[in-house]
Amino acid sequence: MPPIPALQIRDLRKVYDNGVEALKGVSLDVAEGDFFALLGPNGAGKSTLIGIVSSLVNASSGSAHVFGVDIATQRSQAMRLLGLVPQELNFNMFETPRDILVNYAGFYGVPRADALKRADEELARAQLSDKARMMSRTLSGGMKRRLMIARALMTRPRLLILDEPTAGVDIEIRRGMWKLLRDINAAGTTVILTTHYLEEAETLCRNIAIIDKGRIVENTTMKNLLSKLDVEGFLLDVDGALPAQLPRIDGVTLAARDDHTLELDMPRAMDLNRVFGALSGHGITVRSMRNSANRLEELFVRLTGNH
Ligand SMILES: Nc1ncnc2c1ncn2[C@@H]1O[C@H](COP(=O)(O)OP(=O)(O)OP(=O)(O)O)[C@@H](O)[C@H]1O
Ligand SMILES: [Mg+2]
Repeated sequence: MPPIPALQIRDLRKVYDNGVEALKGVSLDVAEGDFFALLGPNGAGKSTLIGIVSSLVNASSGSAHVFGVDIATQRSQAMRLLGLVPQELNFNMFETPRDILVNYAGFYGVPRADALKRADEELARAQLSDKARMMSRTLSGGMKRRLMIARALMTRPRLLILDEPTAGVDIEIRRGMWKLLRDINAAGTTVILTTHYLEEAETLCRNIAIIDKGRIVENTTMKNLLSKLDVEGFLLDVDGALPAQLPRIDGVTLAARDDHTLELDMPRAMDLNRVFGALSGHGITVRSMRNSANRLEELFVRLTGNH
């Protein structure tokens, strides 16, 4: 028998009361243990999808199962398997992190002694132990976000769903959250996140679905998605100043980002040495290079046709 997926969605449709068709028949499987990204532009239907899976929104038709449990007919059982981190901070800023965690667990029926123990564990994992008894209002933005995650983990969900967990936070906080999410996934929890940050999906996730206008337009491994891109982008740091006239190299797009940085786009299969040879033939010496990390972005634009 094939393993039971952490999440199985079949032909899910949602028409809101105002007539907006937010989901037009979405099917999706997320395997247990996966780290899965749901990527899509504003209004694509990501939050609607997550809302249905977490029972905040009623589906118009279709089905969703969490570890084989039907969210429509066995709702409370399904909800016990799932932890949700909504996009907006929604805890009481005048409570302490410890109280927030313990009360949340109590609401879901976790005995108080267990809740206290778990709270200590989750605060430690989220690196909030020293803030446990402070008023949550005094936490930094990144700490508040980690508190949201710690809270969702208090019920020991097997599936953790995060709706744009790092929206609007700076790169340093984001990196800290990536580490926390990786730890959670490594400890066995299946993780699904929505994100606008393509680098985030690329860094964290093994599998990805791209949703646009209520439909899944791509659903594959991250590796496969990236290899589908035939163009690779690099940034080259060059010695000295660039010449006013850049050389022409067949099949390659060159542009000066500033007077000592070149942007290079080339077919993935092309030999870099040929490019370096042509550049040095024009007196341009490359000192270092890095990926310009916009590959997923390019693909995203191409798939969804959002220019
Ligand atoms: N409660 C609602 N009532 C009516 N229409 C809604 C409601 N919630 C969402 N929609 C509409 O459904 C569509 C999908 O919205 P949804 O919030 O699921 O998108 P999203 O992918 O999460 O977007 P974003 O990236 O901006 O968060 C949009 O057209 C939106 O306006
Ligand atoms: Mg949303």
